Amino acid sequence: MKRLGVTKTFAVAMVLGLAAQTTRSVWDGVYSEAQSKRGGALYAKECASCHGTELTGGESAPALVGDGFLSNWNGTTVGDLFERIRKSMPQDEPGRLSRQQDADILAFMLSANRFPVGKAELERETEVLKLIKIEASK
Ligand code: HEC
Repeated sequence: MKRLGVTKTFAVAMVLGLAAQTTRSVWDGVYSEAQSKRGGALYAKECASCHGTELTGGESAPALVGDGFLSNWNGTTVGDLFERIRKSMPQDEPGRLSRQQDADILAFMLSANRFPVGKAELERETEVLKLIKIEASK
């Protein structure tokens, strides 16, 4: 019984350790330069007609950069934003783009919002993206 207790404690400590290690924020360089470039090309093709080439919004579509946008999403996660895009965008045909395409566009959006670039690419699994917090300011 004692051994079981120790193993269990160890397992819990491991899980907590892993969670702490994998929790990141948009300030930690969570996308790569190449990915945001790919995302920029996709954005121009798939999103700019409504959200504007500078992401500042259009007649009915809101801005995807700046204080207003960031305060909408502050305190949520990149995974939440990813799901929002997956479920409802592009508005004229939601769900048409692949997970990889949406992740690339998201990388471009992070870059346009001046979050720092890193070495690794932004993942395309929602569960992993939910570990990356959106913090409007550092
Ligand atoms: C046909 C026009 C249209 C296209 C194309 C389009 N959107 Fe949108 N988008 C909208 C409108 C209108 C809204 C606001 C109403 C709504 O949420 O459905 C919106 C809302 C959003 C929001 C929520 C913003 C917020 O702060 O709540 C995000 C994020 C978004 N769009 C991302 C995208 C991305 C990424 C693409 C390209 C893959 C895209 N949209 C393509 C029209 C469009």
